[in-house]
Amino acid sequence: MGQETVHAAVLLEASVSPSPWTEGIFRDCLTAGYDCWVLPGDPLVGFLVIAFGSDQAHLLNLAIHPQHQHQRLGTRLLGFALECARRQGIARVYLEVRPSNHKARQLYRSAGFDFLSCRPAYYRGADTEDALVLSLALDSSPPGLLSGSANGVRG
Ligand SMILES: CC(C)(COP(=O)(O)OP(=O)(O)OC[C@H]1O[C@@H](n2cnc3c(N)ncnc32)[C@H](O)[C@@H]1OP(=O)(O)O)[C@@H](O)C(=O)NCCC(=O)NCCS
Repeated sequence: MGQETVHAAVLLEASVSPSPWTEGIFRDCLTAGYDCWVLPGDPLVGFLVIAFGSDQAHLLNLAIHPQHQHQRLGTRLLGFALECARRQGIARVYLEVRPSNHKARQLYRSAGFDFLSCRPAYYRGADTEDALVLSLALDSSPPGLLSGSANGVRG
């Protein structure tokens, strides 16, 4: 992800998140070696950030531009990430989501994620909110979700 793409991701994030990631957070993710994939476009169509460990992965962020939401792009991008994780031998994927984020919760539910735990006041700021921790054992993923094409996805 180059400088221009980082700027585009910051703009997209600011347009969809109540507590948007800053440019510094995106840079920290890149420095840490996390995988960052984008759906290119002007403005940027989408991005996903995931940290792979030896047998676990942490999905850190995912966004689709409002003009392109509800067109299965989030499903495709998530499916691509899960397929990459599976191929790397990842057994379980974790993520946090706001209880109020019904669109994202529906996406993760459709992908097979289950509720694991609750982190009180995980999201800070004016709209402090708990986080739901969800997890997915990759062996139990719905096969259809993982068959999406990776076209248009690049790091
Ligand atoms: C969550 C997000 C990534 C979903 O992306 P998307 O491309 O719109 O999602 P899809 O079109 O693939 O749809 C995925 C599911 O969400 C549902 N959904 C998507 N948009 C919706 C909407 N506006 N209202 C209700 N449900 C919606 C779809 O019905 C679908 O459910 P289904 O599989 O049961 O049919 C997108 O809404 C987004 O970027 N939101 C803001 C950022 C965010 O919340 N990220 C997650 C942080 S944890």
